[in-house]
Amino acid sequence: MARLRIAVTGKQGQVVTALIERAREHDVDILPVGRPELDLADPGSAHRALAAVAPDAIVNAAAYTAVDRAEQEPDLVLAVNGAGAGAVAAVAKRLAVPLVHLSTDYVFDGRKDRAYREEDEAAPLGAYGRSKRAGEVAVMEEAQNYAILRTAWVYSPFGANFLKTMLRIAKTRSEIAVVADQHGNPTCALDIADGVIGVVRNLMARPADLRLRGVFHMTASGETSWAGFAKAIFGASAALGGPAAAVKEISTAEYPTPARRPANSRLDCSKLLALHGLALPDWRAPIAQCVARVLSEPQPA
Ligand SMILES: NC(=O)c1ccc[n+]([C@@H]2O[C@H](COP(=O)([O-])OP(=O)(O)OC[C@H]3O[C@@H](n4cnc5c(N)ncnc54)[C@H](OP(=O)(O)O)[C@@H]3O)[C@@H](O)[C@H]2O)c1
Repeated sequence: MARLRIAVTGKQGQVVTALIERAREHDVDILPVGRPELDLADPGSAHRALAAVAPDAIVNAAAYTAVDRAEQEPDLVLAVNGAGAGAVAAVAKRLAVPLVHLSTDYVFDGRKDRAYREEDEAAPLGAYGRSKRAGEVAVMEEAQNYAILRTAWVYSPFGANFLKTMLRIAKTRSEIAVVADQHGNPTCALDIADGVIGVVRNLMARPADLRLRGVFHMTASGETSWAGFAKAIFGASAALGGPAAAVKEISTAEYPTPARRPANSRLDCSKLLALHGLALPDWRAPIAQCVARVLSEPQPA
């Protein structure tokens, strides 16, 4: 049987890189489609570029992800994450292939005192969250056989992320102040890749099962704060002889940023388990291996 050909938007993002790495294990072909051929700010490019690879399924993993910079460029972030996502969804429908679209915990305002469920009201706090919510709505309107997977606090050995930033800063500082009053689920992009491929396979295998469609939460199990995440990173790094700093717990108010962030980012992933039969590992599980990979990379001079 021919291998499944999954087109993924973006070329160097964390999730697309993780999908490329995990492709062999899942016996699928991952076809990255990104700039310059596909620019989400130019919806017309989506059809040309994605149709050209004739995929069996599409994953929209590309997004404008610079949360703070988005406050200065609200029109661009809305075009890329909102209309751009809608354009990718329209292509999936036209090609009659399933679509998995990635979204975020930042569609919520974080005021609930429990983990967010899919049906909870979206109330984004900033331009990035608003644009991602617009993308969800566009996908719901444009796509047919689709799943929107909301994930959170993504890290990996690739690209730019909190884990890599912590390891870099710890080389020159013995103590790092980290926010302790935002809570969420740090999620490794490699585990997201496994979950995405699982959902794609389900959508392809059971196209008439409408329960597989719609919005799902997909993060690592368990929860922590950014400070708790930093401590786990430094614990793993110290065990490997890498850089480690003491973590000073601070409040969000002591670390002002251009974009407001939800205090409670926790996502309840029980719907994904119940309907797709998928659950990602505990947030602590992938950290040591990820840290080891980052430490083994050639360091910039
Ligand atoms: N990072 C997180 O903590 C986080 C949390 C929750 C949800 N998410 C969501 O998860 C998904 C994957 O995130 P990630 O961490 O893999 O993102 P990332 O590492 O920041 O990568 C972003 C990707 O989007 C591509 N991209 C950006 N603007 C584009 C444009 N105008 N046209 C085409 N491609 C464009 C980039 O292209 P290049 O390859 O050219 O650089 C890159 O491949 C996104 O939907 C994001 O919103 C992320």
